[in-house]
Amino acid sequence: MNYSEAKEKLERYGQTHLLKFYDELNEAEKAELLAQIESTDFSMLKLCESKENMAKRGKITPLAAMTLGEIEENKEYFYNTGASAIKAGKVGAVLLAGGMGTRLGSHEPKGMYNIGETKDVFIFERIIKNLMDIVDIAGSWIHLFVMTSEKNHKATTEFFEEKDYFGYNKNYITFFKQEMAPAADYNGKIYMESKSRMSTSPNGNGGWFISMYKSGVLDIVKREGIEWLNVFAVDNVLQRIADPVFVGAVISKGCAVGSKVVKKASPDEKVGVMCLEDGKPSIVEYYELTDELMNSKDENGEPSYNYGVILNYLFRVEDLEKIMKQYMPLHIVKKKIPYIDSEGQLVNPEEPNGYKFETLVLDMIHLMDSCLPFEVIREKEFAPIKNKTGVDSVETARELLRKNGVTL
Ligand code: UTP
Repeated sequence: MNYSEAKEKLERYGQTHLLKFYDELNEAEKAELLAQIESTDFSMLKLCESKENMAKRGKITPLAAMTLGEIEENKEYFYNTGASAIKAGKVGAVLLAGGMGTRLGSHEPKGMYNIGETKDVFIFERIIKNLMDIVDIAGSWIHLFVMTSEKNHKATTEFFEEKDYFGYNKNYITFFKQEMAPAADYNGKIYMESKSRMSTSPNGNGGWFISMYKSGVLDIVKREGIEWLNVFAVDNVLQRIADPVFVGAVISKGCAVGSKVVKKASPDEKVGVMCLEDGKPSIVEYYELTDELMNSKDENGEPSYNYGVILNYLFRVEDLEKIMKQYMPLHIVKKKIPYIDSEGQLVNPEEPNGYKFETLVLDMIHLMDSCLPFEVIREKEFAPIKNKTGVDSVETARELLRKNGVTL
């Protein structure tokens, strides 16, 4: 794309300010900026104008979860079913580690965060350790696919190499990059992060499967005969990955996807809850739950919308392939976006100053025909690290890890 084509494209979207420093750039920088303009989809900026109209929901009805009692009764059967699928190499794992972790405020990838107190305990290390528990039982390696982004790929891969993959077999760890989306101010004008680059951020965790496909990593999945992918977040340090009982339950029920859920701590807890939306599995965010839904009860007198998701899903690959090119809603999220000011000086804002555009893995659930919400014990499986202190923080996660016998 040459300068005039770029200018013409930017005019269509009201973004010509991106060329403000063009004349000051050297040839390589000019080429870099023009290439970025060419490859960027600007259509999402329209969403900034009509944010209020976005969250149109279908009819929400309850979706019963498989509860702890039911799981306990069938545990042996589920375990055997899951373990034999794992042994046969039919289960892979996908670590979503492309996020920026802005709330935690570390400049390194979140997985490199050291939560140890008397020794080093890195988040990535905890994840590998948890996966190793299953590898040891199954007696076969589970292929781990790690999603990074352009912003943290190098740091992440170098860290794994430096730590010798925490003892995991590196032939069974594959990294792939997710895509980026532009980041804009509240008026929909894209920020610049340098004179030759517009600000971009990872495009959300909903693009993981299409990114596996585009990066060629899906070929490995097919070649190895992996039929199920357990996708999970980097920040839950109590995460159970490729849990045979969970895998077995989802297979036994013949569902396209399973979702680990925890019983809500209170009706107004800020978690997304499993439901049916227009008869298809879905997740309704806490702020979308009306009082009527929040207080409705099932036939046992329990809240009808009582199970929150913890970002641990088991998807059937065959079904993922069917939906991968379908439209996913874009979410606009307020975040802190570093940018250069009109003088070209870099500014690192203390508070959110604009929008990022993301698709979310939870929206993939609604594209599936069936979903099994599978209850797990919160204190044993859910210790998310989002912030440094307070709710869902390094402090609360340490407390839970100690309770589960982990030395920090
Ligand atoms: P979060 O929603 O906590 O986002 O991600 P984040 O970017 O890591 O953190 P904040 O909001 O800036 O503080 C949940 C999971 O999804 C992954 C994260 O790495 C985490 O495992 N994720 C998020 C991606 O892989 N890509 C993204 O674009 C966003």
